[in-house]
Amino acid sequence: MTTYTRTQSDQLYARAVAAIPGGVNSPVRAFKSVGGKPVYFASAQGAHVIDVDGNRYVDFCLSWGPLILGHSDPQVVTAVQAMAPLGLTYGACHAGEVAMAEALVAAFPGAEMARLVSSGTEAVMTALRLARGATGRSLILKFEGGYHGHADALLVKAGSGLITLADPGSEATSAGVPKEMAGLTIALPFADLAVVEALFAAHGERIAAVILEPLPANNGLLVQTDAYLAGLRRITLAHGALLIFDEVISGFRYQYGGYGQLAGVQPDLITLGKIVGGGMPLGAIVGPARILSLLAPVGPVYQAGTLSGNPLSIAAGLATLAQLSDPTAYRRLEQLGAYLEHRLARTGIPWLRGRRVGSVFWPYFDVGPIPVRADTISPVAIQRFNGMYHHMLHAGYYLPPSAYEVLFLSTAHSEADLDGLVAAWAQAAQQLL
Ligand SMILES: Cc1ncc(COP(=O)(O)O)c(C=O)c1O
Repeated sequence: MTTYTRTQSDQLYARAVAAIPGGVNSPVRAFKSVGGKPVYFASAQGAHVIDVDGNRYVDFCLSWGPLILGHSDPQVVTAVQAMAPLGLTYGACHAGEVAMAEALVAAFPGAEMARLVSSGTEAVMTALRLARGATGRSLILKFEGGYHGHADALLVKAGSGLITLADPGSEATSAGVPKEMAGLTIALPFADLAVVEALFAAHGERIAAVILEPLPANNGLLVQTDAYLAGLRRITLAHGALLIFDEVISGFRYQYGGYGQLAGVQPDLITLGKIVGGGMPLGAIVGPARILSLLAPVGPVYQAGTLSGNPLSIAAGLATLAQLSDPTAYRRLEQLGAYLEHRLARTGIPWLRGRRVGSVFWPYFDVGPIPVRADTISPVAIQRFNGMYHHMLHAGYYLPPSAYEVLFLSTAHSEADLDGLVAAWAQAAQQLL
């Protein structure tokens, strides 16, 4: 076994902190919650990454979700290589974007149109603007622990006594978000329809949209019941508000299409990102023509983008979707997920466990009920995950550097990768016992 060194990573990090705020281009990459310094990747293939010091890891972060086929899937790479000499971006129309929009429309019931953008954040921003344009209302309801990108309106936390206040909006969680803007977003806890009913009873005529991930995966994996999602559908329909399912993570993750279909609930708008771009920057807003047609140039709601629907992202996305349209991909992902759960159940350490849906796994290292809302997550579970993080890194397992994040499996992972992960966790756990 080679020794673990990180001389090159440390040198790069020292340069990075001088040139990039915090040394990172997205805060989740900093090792703030697990301690220590980030690792610098040099190459990746399948389920594996190699860092600049030559350390090899099995990657369970997988760029936070897009890489459902693993890193640099050969068919995706071939599609991008074939496209690159024909143009990196046109800023004009091309056949690929039509094929992508048609593929997305075909994958979601009730969808008739898609607008392509370059990130999940942009997709969500556009969906909210559309909802406000369609309803003429201003307020947005989101849920505590839901992350929907870094647009101003969504960087909020709940204030107290929201529902009964004349001005029910929340506080910003980020400097730079004006309180007037944060005040237009309301944040309520998940898994409680009564608070949503109460909010709509008091302010229903002012609410443009309710936005949530139908399977919330940004603050643990807070699985909501189908009845809860159906309840949100009923309430929004009754009050003329739009229901937006943010499927940036869940789109094409659990099946070919969205999680909403699995739950039997059809939202008004769906936002997509991650998997649809196959590892390249791509997002989308999908929905019925009556709402999507409000977008410029046909309608009054403005949205634009220099690189929107660029041919390279489309090539990577279409090559990914083509492979996912074969149901064996999802059968394999489910098999791997079930295997991980089965192996974890046999370590003899009762708290070494988690919540899994398909190929998404949230390590929840505590006993007792697994939370379905953000405020009931055990601090012990967080401490254990963090305390084990660097052992896992040294053992060759790159996990998302936060206990609140989920692990992603890909078709490139093997049972042996999962055996190794569980063995390393079990060994790390022994040191904490
Ligand atoms: C559910 C959800 N929505 C939106 C976003 C924002 O997407 P992006 O990072 O591509 O802007 C994310 C990112 O993690 C997400 O998980």
